[in-house]
Amino acid sequence: MSFRNLPLAEIQEPDKSNLFTPEIRESIEASIAKYPPEWRQSAVMPALSIVQDANGGWLTRELMNEVAAYLDMPAMSVYEVATFYGMYDLEPQGRHKVCVCNSISCLLNGSEALIEHIEHKYQVKPGETTRDGRFTFKEVECLGACRHAPAVLLDKVYHENLSPESLDKLIDDLE
Ligand code: FES
Repeated sequence: MSFRNLPLAEIQEPDKSNLFTPEIRESIEASIAKYPPEWRQSAVMPALSIVQDANGGWLTRELMNEVAAYLDMPAMSVYEVATFYGMYDLEPQGRHKVCVCNSISCLLNGSEALIEHIEHKYQVKPGETTRDGRFTFKEVECLGACRHAPAVLLDKVYHENLSPESLDKLIDDLE
């Protein structure tokens, strides 16, 4: 369990009872419509993202099972996708996600300093959540923004050419 700094009792569990709502189904249907009718499983990644967002940033096994049933695919295939890609989380997360790229271009351009700064200032290691639940800190593989390294994904927004100071400003601006 990577939640070393956050007692489980402090985590706000979203209400998952009615999560697979008509609105969510509609969003998933919009993704399915982008593929040929016989390939509805191709929408598995956007479907997982939609459900994860609605669940406060993480996926439960039940939700993955629902996605599998909805897309008519084996649950194991959905688990494989959800565990392979770093954008899916299988544990409760903070209210925000701060994802620092640790691949080569970013490493050569200062991402280590960003990581050390976050660890020191916010007392979190990669994979952990701040004590107040404000954000989960993640080290991630290449974000595809190598030309403007170091890059950070803050929730769903890319930020580039960051220094510890400019990253601090972005984190300060989180609610
Ligand atoms: S190496 Fe960091 S964005 Fe590619």
